[in-house]
Amino acid sequence: MKTQVAIIGGGPSGLLLSQLLHTRGIDSVVLERKTKEYVLGRIRAGVLEQGLVGLLEEAGCAGRLHAEGYVHDGTLISYGDEMFRVDFTEHTGKPVIVYGQTEVTRDLYAAREAASGIIEFEVEDVVINRADSEAPFVTYSVGGEPRRIDCDFIAGCDGFHGVSRQAIPLDLRREYEKVYPFGWLGILSETPPVNHELIYANSTRGFALCSMRNENLSRYYIQCSLSDKPEDWTDEAFWQELKRRIPAEEAATLVTGPSIEKSIAPLRSFVTEPMRWGRLFLCGDTAHIVPPTGAKGLNTAASDVHYLYNGLRDFYENGSSAGIDSYSEKALRRVWKAERFSWWFSSLMHRYPDQSEFDLKMQVAELEFLRSNKAAQQAMAENYVGLPY
Ligand code: APR
Ligand code: PHB
Repeated sequence: MKTQVAIIGGGPSGLLLSQLLHTRGIDSVVLERKTKEYVLGRIRAGVLEQGLVGLLEEAGCAGRLHAEGYVHDGTLISYGDEMFRVDFTEHTGKPVIVYGQTEVTRDLYAAREAASGIIEFEVEDVVINRADSEAPFVTYSVGGEPRRIDCDFIAGCDGFHGVSRQAIPLDLRREYEKVYPFGWLGILSETPPVNHELIYANSTRGFALCSMRNENLSRYYIQCSLSDKPEDWTDEAFWQELKRRIPAEEAATLVTGPSIEKSIAPLRSFVTEPMRWGRLFLCGDTAHIVPPTGAKGLNTAASDVHYLYNGLRDFYENGSSAGIDSYSEKALRRVWKAERFSWWFSSLMHRYPDQSEFDLKMQVAELEFLRSNKAAQQAMAENYVGLPY
């Protein structure tokens, strides 16, 4: 098979890139290791920056998002029983949209299918060949049958555990990583959200987050130990613990119910540099991971897609390689800012095993500064709604 852009990975990065390229008449083939049902079974954060919303509009995939997504003009932050609000719209003129990543992915699949885009599922043994030449190709197999795609470019959108990053020779690649000494235990429940806005809670018992998907679907998280297993936590134990970590007034109105999903995610900050090698471009989780505090994962993947899509457009429409040549540098500049924000917000909100009494006082002082200082709130709001591309 021949295509212009071979895309490895059918998560949100790969699908969004494929659909955007399609709007410009640029051909791509998406290779996905799992089934569509499996990809759509993953539950991830659900806060979209305007930049991503704009890309989904450009891709023709924003209809349901505008009809069903929730506009959030601010967020709540609590410490103990104290709670304050950071108003995004007041400080930046922009809100965020609460709409699940699973739904974004579902809309992108629907758009690719409506456009008869080629997506190969359950591919195995994907190998990137000759990415440093003018004639790269990808080999893989489906059901034991070997296949090959010749292409102009390869987009590595295969997530943290994919093969694309490893295709860049070790002596040209540098990786930066921070592993956090705790995880997030998350549940989804068919109950009304405790508040119409998200609550990020710093408590002496550890972090908690109250989030949502719709009026009757809530997403809650509590910081947990890395050795915990989801089955160690009964629903009752989860609700009890959550109530102890959020302000009493909120806990009193929390509606509990059976969980319909329960899982633990570790927290990690990770960046690989560069994000390009020859005709291979890395996009999204394959190149960087953020801890979920602040929901920057999908949004940072989207900014990569923006730079790569525009670079490829410039190449095909104007014969210029300026955009693809500056891809890695431009994408990384924004990636590191998202890394910094996610690290800062995580550090502010969690309990760390080695935290001293002094460190705890510093957290409270910083929360009180944020609560009372407009410039600090503006800095947080600008990062939360998304820095410009
Ligand atoms: N070959 C083909 N596909 C692969 C391979 C492979 N060798 N390895 C992984 N994949 C697929 C995965 O099955 C997955 O569907 O690549 C896809 C990568 O998708 P994501 O992990 O969702 O990554 P990305 O599309 O970059 O989305 C970033 O997802 O993980 C969240 O927090 C992250 O919100 C962010 C967003
Ligand atoms: C979520 O709704 O899953 C969510 C929201 C905000 C975050 C992380 C996760 O910062």
